[in-house]
Amino acid sequence: MADALHDIDQGLDGIRTTYRQQLEAASTEQQLRDANAKILGKKGELTAVLKQMGSLAPEMRKQVGARVNALKTEVEQAFEQRLAALARAQREAELHARPFDLSLPGRVPVHHGHVHPIIQTRDELLSIFKDLGFVIAQGPEVELEENNFSKLAFPPDHPATDMQDSFWVSDGVLLRTHTSNMQIREMSTHKPPMAIVSAGVVYRRDDDVTHSPMFHQIEGFLVDENVTFAHLKGVLTAFAQRLYGADLKVRFRPSYFPFVEPGAEMDVACVFCRRPDGTHAGCRTCKGTGWMEVLGCGMIHPAVFENCGIDPERYTGFAFGLGIERVSMLRYGIPDIRLLFENDPRFLAQF
Ligand code: PHE
Repeated sequence: MADALHDIDQGLDGIRTTYRQQLEAASTEQQLRDANAKILGKKGELTAVLKQMGSLAPEMRKQVGARVNALKTEVEQAFEQRLAALARAQREAELHARPFDLSLPGRVPVHHGHVHPIIQTRDELLSIFKDLGFVIAQGPEVELEENNFSKLAFPPDHPATDMQDSFWVSDGVLLRTHTSNMQIREMSTHKPPMAIVSAGVVYRRDDDVTHSPMFHQIEGFLVDENVTFAHLKGVLTAFAQRLYGADLKVRFRPSYFPFVEPGAEMDVACVFCRRPDGTHAGCRTCKGTGWMEVLGCGMIHPAVFENCGIDPERYTGFAFGLGIERVSMLRYGIPDIRLLFENDPRFLAQF
């Protein structure tokens, strides 16, 4: 048995030696794999030895088995090592042949998402009012009829309450048609003094180049003792001048909203056709008037205070509401409101 074992050992040594030489000589992964197959493949030399094991006497088989397995592990490890070394060498060679330029731009342009122009405008408007001392509040888009209309002193037969003008969800519940519902909500739950702004989405049955059935408004109101129309003018003029420049001219025109008395609309001098001397050429945007309407406002109606449990003999206040899309369209020169809602990346990427 000793002789037979000796022969086998020699055979295994032979396999080991040739294998090591072939590994050394291999300079590509393919050559490496070929060398490996010659030993461990289906027709490999070591495989052949393993196949003969069955014909050996049990005692012999045990000893030969141990030796063959040891060589097999050795071969496998040597192969892995050589493979890794080869991969490293290849990478090195590549790096030297074609060094990295870390300053090169990427191959695929990266698109950055950004804040929608309406939301940019909203945040800017809110931050102006925040600087003026107003507190920000939020409210729902699905609203009770009483918060949207009746507590704001709309008469029951007012055209705005009509099925044709508003989106009704169910009896007595609708999509709010303006953010003035926030006056009722806040004044019913807070005591004066208060100065509040609230931005949000509102809905009306309206649809053309300057009207969308869904749009954004900002509502603001201030309630305290001795608040006068002069405070309204002061705050809103400061706001408009922060937005369009300190030398901007504004004017207030009488107007009607059921929940204010007196009511007004504020116009700002057209920013598009203003001449250096302050006069206006008149253009399409201002329809030749030199003025642009930007918001509705007025002194809060005593009936509204009463509906919210605030004493109208003691308190007065002003309120205003403005459309965010309109401000956005004016400042960026956007001609059609629908562009703001189509979300075409070619449009949005410009902001
Ligand atoms: N809610 C009014 C509108 O949507 C605007 C407004 C708000 C007017 C507050 C006066 C006071 O047209």
